[in-house]
Amino acid sequence: MSVDTAAKQADAGDGAGRFLLDPYLDWAKGEGIPIHDDFGFDLLAVETGPWERYDARGCFAHTLGRGDFMSNYVLEVEPTRRTRPVRHLYEAFFYVLTGYGSTTVWLPDGTESSFEWGPKALFAIPLNCRYQILNASGVEPARLSCTTDAPLLLNLFHSPEFVFGSDAAFPDRVGAAARFEGDGEHSVYNQDSAKVQNVWETNFVHDLTSFKLYSFEGRGTGSMNVNFVLADGTMHSHVSQMPVGRYKKAHRHAAGTHVHAVDGEGFSLLWYEGDAEFRRFPWRHGFMYSPPFWMFHQHFNTGPTPARYVACSLGSRKYPFLALRRKSAEGSGAVSVSQGGRQIEYEDQDPRVHRMFLEALREAGVESRMGDAFDEAAIMALPPESLTGVIHTPRSTGPAI
Ligand SMILES: [Fe+2]
Repeated sequence: MSVDTAAKQADAGDGAGRFLLDPYLDWAKGEGIPIHDDFGFDLLAVETGPWERYDARGCFAHTLGRGDFMSNYVLEVEPTRRTRPVRHLYEAFFYVLTGYGSTTVWLPDGTESSFEWGPKALFAIPLNCRYQILNASGVEPARLSCTTDAPLLLNLFHSPEFVFGSDAAFPDRVGAAARFEGDGEHSVYNQDSAKVQNVWETNFVHDLTSFKLYSFEGRGTGSMNVNFVLADGTMHSHVSQMPVGRYKKAHRHAAGTHVHAVDGEGFSLLWYEGDAEFRRFPWRHGFMYSPPFWMFHQHFNTGPTPARYVACSLGSRKYPFLALRRKSAEGSGAVSVSQGGRQIEYEDQDPRVHRMFLEALREAGVESRMGDAFDEAAIMALPPESLTGVIHTPRSTGPAI
């Protein structure tokens, strides 16, 4: 055996630094800001630290269900300050948690575009454009939630120098100048079915609480939503709304969907097929979590106003990227599990679900408006011993892939 070979074999003992690498996490650790790992977060409360890259403050908010390709960081800009201009090859959707300010984007044609934003705005940076974020307030910090596909890019190239230092230009990602002012294009497909998809293409949505939504009854009576294609991106976003006194049907899908509560209040239930207990996650503005892969989840509005949330994930309606996301774009997200889809119809759900909803409504002093779908008196009269054991799920015909 040569000396060289013996040395290589000895080195293979623990393989530290040579195998099972995660360049994204290595990069994140090297940024020097707090890294929070949890099921979900109150992004208004998470601790931030100085972040040299942006010359601002920030932290990583790594959800348990972020999956292989997506992650999230919080960027905090102190009053009157502006961030150091940066560019990167990953896509980035910014959702404004608090504060007022503006963003300047330098475009591939040599011009620049600036737009102003306030709380609950959503905007995307066109791919690899240099940008700078300014806090216009002299008093209040601005806090933004940034959902990205940085893990995809950093684990693919394992070169932060390339991901943050490339001069590559993608002019097709920019769109018309008015798209930074909220102008856009509305399209509809699957028009004549319960699978209707309303899509709005833009770069900037100035207020998610007032943005026009469209009926999406496939997810439950009164449900409304709109899908966004932002900056011609591969990342997806949609806003959904639940009316007062109602909730959406449970469903499951790929990992990586970062769900942000926008307004209203309520809770979500999550469970895997075969579980005996639900995981319950309360939410209001600022809360963010990601349902893990193939985990059922269901959102409940228990407040006196309609409730909205915004979700950001990989695989847009325009560029689905993943087979599972293509199925969603085709409308399979609203097909019953018993028909090969991913949704649990009201009549198939475990009685504990509606009972928990009614109890939460009673506590909040809000009336249920779901008497059309459930015998609510009978559900409230069920004996406690009937509300235990494996959570009822209709017979699944397998993953819809
Ligand atoms: Fe979902």
